[in-house]
Amino acid sequence: MKRLAILASGSGSNAEKIMEHFQNSEKGKVVLVASNKAGAYVLERAKKFQVPTFTFTKKEMEEGILLKKLEEEQIDWVILAGFLLKIPDALTRAFPDHMVNIHPALLPKYGGKGMYGAHVHEAVKAAGEKETGITIHLVNENYDEGKIIFQAHTAIDELDTPDSIAAKVHELEHKYFPKVIEGLL
Ligand code: GAR
Repeated sequence: MKRLAILASGSGSNAEKIMEHFQNSEKGKVVLVASNKAGAYVLERAKKFQVPTFTFTKKEMEEGILLKKLEEEQIDWVILAGFLLKIPDALTRAFPDHMVNIHPALLPKYGGKGMYGAHVHEAVKAAGEKETGITIHLVNENYDEGKIIFQAHTAIDELDTPDSIAAKVHELEHKYFPKVIEGLL
C-alpha cells in the first residue's frame, strides 16, 4: 500500500476527491495533508476524512522541515493539489518521478510563474481560446515543466467567463485526478 501526502494551499476540493477515492483503494492511502496556509479549508476537509495534517511556512519548507516530515511519514508519493509555492529542489530530488501536480490549463500553454488558479482562467479568456483543460504532470525543478502524464480538454464558448471556465476545469480535475494518481501507483 503506497503512502500518499497531499500538499495544498487553498480550498482543497481536489484533495477531497483524492481522499474520497483512496478510502476504497487497495493501492494507496492518503496519510498526510500538508499546507503552507494555517487557515486553509483543505485542513478542515482532511479532518472530515481523519487524515492527519501538517502546516509549515515557506521559510520552514525551504529549510527542509517539510522534507523531514515526509520522510518521517515514509511517504511514497507527493500529490500537489492546488499547492502554490515553488517546491525546493531538495524536495523534488527526494521524490524523483514520485511527485505529481495538477495544472488548470493545457500545458505548455498558460504555465509558469504567476500562472495559478483564477489567473490562468483569466488569461485563457483574455486570449480568446476556444478550449482549455487540465494537465497532470510529474514535478521537476522547473515550474510546470515535468513530464506530462495526462490531459483532458473542455470547450470554451463566447459566453464563458473566467468563473465558468474555472468550474468546467474543476469538473475535469475532480473526474480524472484521483484515477490518474491510482494509475501511477
Ligand atoms: C486547481 O484548479 C488546481 O489545478 C490549481 O489550483 C486549483 C485548486 O483548487 N493549481 C494551480 O493553479 C497550480 N499552478 P482546489 O483547492 O479546489 O483543489
